[in-house]
Amino acid sequence: MLEYSRKPVKEIDFNDVRIASFVSESDQNIDIDTVDSFGEEWTKFSSFSEVEIKNAGDQYFDIVTEEICNSSSVVLDMGCGTGRWSKYLANRVKFIEAIDPSKAVLSASHLTKDLNNVRVTQAGVDSIPFADESFDFAMGVGVYHHIPDTQKAVRDTVKKIKKGGYLLIYLYYSLDNRGAGYKFIFKMSTIIRKIVSSMPNRLKKITCDFIAFFVYMPFVMLARLFKMFFPKGGIWEKIPLSYYHDKSWNIIKNDALDRFGTPLEQRFSKKALVQILESCGMEDVVVSDGLPYWHAVGRKMK
Ligand SMILES: C[S@@+](CC[C@H](N)C(=O)[O-])C[C@H]1O[C@@H](n2cnc3c(N)ncnc32)[C@H](O)[C@@H]1O
Repeated sequence: MLEYSRKPVKEIDFNDVRIASFVSESDQNIDIDTVDSFGEEWTKFSSFSEVEIKNAGDQYFDIVTEEICNSSSVVLDMGCGTGRWSKYLANRVKFIEAIDPSKAVLSASHLTKDLNNVRVTQAGVDSIPFADESFDFAMGVGVYHHIPDTQKAVRDTVKKIKKGGYLLIYLYYSLDNRGAGYKFIFKMSTIIRKIVSSMPNRLKKITCDFIAFFVYMPFVMLARLFKMFFPKGGIWEKIPLSYYHDKSWNIIKNDALDRFGTPLEQRFSKKALVQILESCGMEDVVVSDGLPYWHAVGRKMK
């Protein structure tokens, strides 16, 4: 484990584990409502099964080769949420520092409790408590689009990566590779998100479960049927939400809450994602052609 670059603001005692917290009022690049919402969300979804983590992880990490991340890698899991990607990567790397500003750190601590090469810390991107150029590999999966200044957050993460190290990033896509039908559905869902995300937590959760069941599941079932009867030609992949055709109900509920319960959400085209990474000093950027869109990896050369 790395040494902290400064003293924690406080320590949280949780199930015999002490979690250092570096979150303070001086954190600027953070949307408090969004972080609180995630804290609520992730404390409800801390129990992903090994299979769920492996199936979803294989898609996000399809472009993370052995050269990028291996047994000598010291890793930063930025915005770790429940810690599922730390759990996914733990047996492949040397050590993982998993950080998140929300109370999701309690879930992450619980999920990773049996892994002696993962440490969970409460901190946001503005207060990453490690020296610059500490990490061989950093990942921010589904994080930066929930931060007010996405580009600055990426830059602040890149500072912590060693020269020659890598960053994996997943940003919500702006449907730049989709047709008008998708864009229309997205506009409608944005309106619904604005309403749902302002609801009290319990009502928000019930509403999102309702959306998962009555909106997500019909599309998912349709995609499953099309895949079964017309496996060739990829027609089923054109069905909205077909990404979830092989995902569990737990993951679908979780993602519905993630999509509709979060106040701050930004979207990026593939081009904008590459521009952000390059402007933050990343080179050799590879954007995966696979779902979920867009996830990419880049290398810090200077
Ligand atoms: C969609 S969740 C993704 C969690 C995890 N990476 C995953 O994919 O399972 C977004 C996470 O970003 C965290 N987050 C929000 N604002 C942040 C900030 N300013 N700095 C670091 N993390 C932040 C939230 O607390 C939340 O846990």
